[in-house]
Amino acid sequence: MTQVAETLESSTDKALDRDCTTLSRHVLQQLQSFGPEAQDLSALMNRIALAGKLIARRFTRAGLMEDVLGFTGEVNVQGESVKKMDVYANEVFISVFKQSGLVCRLASEEMEKPYYIPENCPIGRYTLLYDPIDGSSNTDINLSLGSIFSIRQQEGTDLDGEAKDLLNHGRKQLAAGYILYGPSTMLVYSIGKGVHFFTLDPSLGEFILTQENVKIPEHGAVYSVNEGNFWQWEESFREYIRYVHKTEGYTARYSGAMVSDIHRILVQGGVFLYPGTLQKPEGKLRLLYETAPLAYLIEQAGGLATTGTEDILDVVPKQLHQRTPLIIGSQQDVAKVESFMQKGQ
Ligand code: AHG
Ligand code: MN
Ligand code: MN
Repeated sequence: MTQVAETLESSTDKALDRDCTTLSRHVLQQLQSFGPEAQDLSALMNRIALAGKLIARRFTRAGLMEDVLGFTGEVNVQGESVKKMDVYANEVFISVFKQSGLVCRLASEEMEKPYYIPENCPIGRYTLLYDPIDGSSNTDINLSLGSIFSIRQQEGTDLDGEAKDLLNHGRKQLAAGYILYGPSTMLVYSIGKGVHFFTLDPSLGEFILTQENVKIPEHGAVYSVNEGNFWQWEESFREYIRYVHKTEGYTARYSGAMVSDIHRILVQGGVFLYPGTLQKPEGKLRLLYETAPLAYLIEQAGGLATTGTEDILDVVPKQLHQRTPLIIGSQQDVAKVESFMQKGQ
């Protein structure tokens, strides 16, 4: 074979190898197994990817279609106005897991009680927890949004429909991640073996591995918080904000979609904050399908996630839709915030 032919062959090999590192293959590689657990996780991730592709497709064409954008007029269990895309995305996840034989139960921000798929229950040993659209306020203005997901083993039979086994700490998660709907669609996930980035290749309709074992920088310039809440925060937290204002080297970024803000921080370092307020000490974000999955990811990337007093992954909720304050990101930056909050105790 001539040298030109050899070079051509190896560059084709590399491109093929790249294109074949799909999500389901990656899960199997990570677990170094073709056993039933590994096959389950691989299939679960594949279904989540399908949900991501369906939601991304609708976002891409939203402005061209009737009846996709705007509010439904309903208010969800959180007391928040529901958007049509929240409903669509919620149903997409249910639909992709019907007849999957994988998941017996789904719990989401948009549903007061878990959704059961009885036909899966004899075999489906997993629960999917999810925030179908994170950053809904960006829906109608064509800005970045996300979906957040978490997979837990179903424990017990849950015959009474109370899902008490879900009221457990975040270290019980088997997998967690998010889909980011930005200029490109990305899927970021961990099964407890590091954090990996996949990018949707629209020409293939597949998520392809683009970065493996991502590590969050130990420190970054960004602090990401809604400063409109300044006078509703405790004094110790206000002191931290005054500190970043006075100190050179900090810069603010806040998009209205936590998935986007945390993705920036995962790549470039810094800290995302949604603390409690004097009136709502528990903050806004929900533990089981917002803060715990993101905490799992960020810890896997070498960062930290805390309520200010407790690791997010140690928090045991008392109810399905429980909220927690959130301080998440680079080790040094989270520690700095904590040092201010501890002064206030
Ligand atoms: P959701 O769209 O699922 O309700 O979540 C929105 C969250 C989060 O994504 C975002 O960072 C934050 O709420 C924004 O809240 P504020 O408008 O209060 O800053
Ligand atoms: Mn959310
Ligand atoms: Mn949401």
